[in-house]
Amino acid sequence: MRFSHVTEALLALTIHPSLVYGWGALGHTTVAYIASSLVAPSTQIYFQTLLNNNTDAYLAGVATWADSFRYTSAGRWSAPLHFIDAEDNPPVSCGVVYSRDCPIKGCVIGAIGNYTRRILDNEVSHYEKYIAAKFLVHFIGDIHQPLHDENLDIGGNGISVNFTGIPTNLHAIWDTNMPEKLVGSYSYAAAAKWAATLTAAIKTGAYKAETKAWLQGMDLNDPISSALTWASEANAFVCTTVMPQGVNAVRGQELSGAYYTAAVPVIQLQVARAGYR
Ligand SMILES: *[C@@H]1O[C@H](CO)[C@@H](O)[C@H](O)[C@H]1NC(C)=O
Ligand SMILES: *[C@@H]1O[C@H](CO)[C@@H](O)[C@H](O)[C@H]1NC(C)=O
Ligand SMILES: *[C@@H]1O[C@H](CO)[C@@H](O)[C@H](O)[C@H]1NC(C)=O
Ligand SMILES: [Zn+2]
Repeated sequence: MRFSHVTEALLALTIHPSLVYGWGALGHTTVAYIASSLVAPSTQIYFQTLLNNNTDAYLAGVATWADSFRYTSAGRWSAPLHFIDAEDNPPVSCGVVYSRDCPIKGCVIGAIGNYTRRILDNEVSHYEKYIAAKFLVHFIGDIHQPLHDENLDIGGNGISVNFTGIPTNLHAIWDTNMPEKLVGSYSYAAAAKWAATLTAAIKTGAYKAETKAWLQGMDLNDPISSALTWASEANAFVCTTVMPQGVNAVRGQELSGAYYTAAVPVIQLQVARAGYR
């Protein structure tokens, strides 16, 4: 989502909840619950200690922090880190090019690289690692939302659509309306329940056979290239599922019917992948 300074100023005046969150709180919290149920015991203890929370919600409890922080004056600098504005041309061609699409002020790929390195760096203080962990849990969620890897119409924020008769925009329905139609409105319990379903699919169900492929291109020593792989994969859905017939086929349309049905498998897959990774 690219915001010019003027647009940002306007947005600050009219803060719209759908612009505040990446995946909505439901998606982010679900990603965190999936991750916390899959990590190795030693990793769990490391993050429970770092985040000072020894409950099952140690990651879920920090998953949306970055979205509150970006709207504080102290956290304003971090707003560009939630997305990357791929300058591609959907639905004809999709693609993320790090050197082209990540500006000096930063992007989600650079941020995942930075905060992964900081967690692994012995020179970084305990407090800074704590901040890094909170950012990472969130940004790994964001990068899996296809419209967080797309420049067109501010990542779809500028594309008006209806959902269940209510006027909103394309970005917002991917963040929030479609996940909530699928599992119910946001609560820790709803997120934990959705996470349990997706975790079962990962461990023994429909996703089991493909989880190995989900780790392809992943390298802790090269987190930028890992994150670029994830951004490219999510961005490809902009051409195939988010607007396969172009913007004009979705603008002004009611999308809670066939469009929603086609989007659900992609939403489930992307939330599962984010949690697994
Ligand atoms: C852990 O995090 C959860 C979710 O934010 C919170 O409800 C709980 O009180 C926290 N527990 C501790 C011991 O901090
Ligand atoms: C990495 O993160 C730190 C802490 O948020 C920040 O001060 C620094 O500018 C970041 N570096 C890069 C290259 O993004
Ligand atoms: C979208 O919603 C508005 C307001 O409820 C309504 O007037 C309009 O007819 C709807 N458009 C479609 C395509 O459903
Ligand atoms: Zn975000």
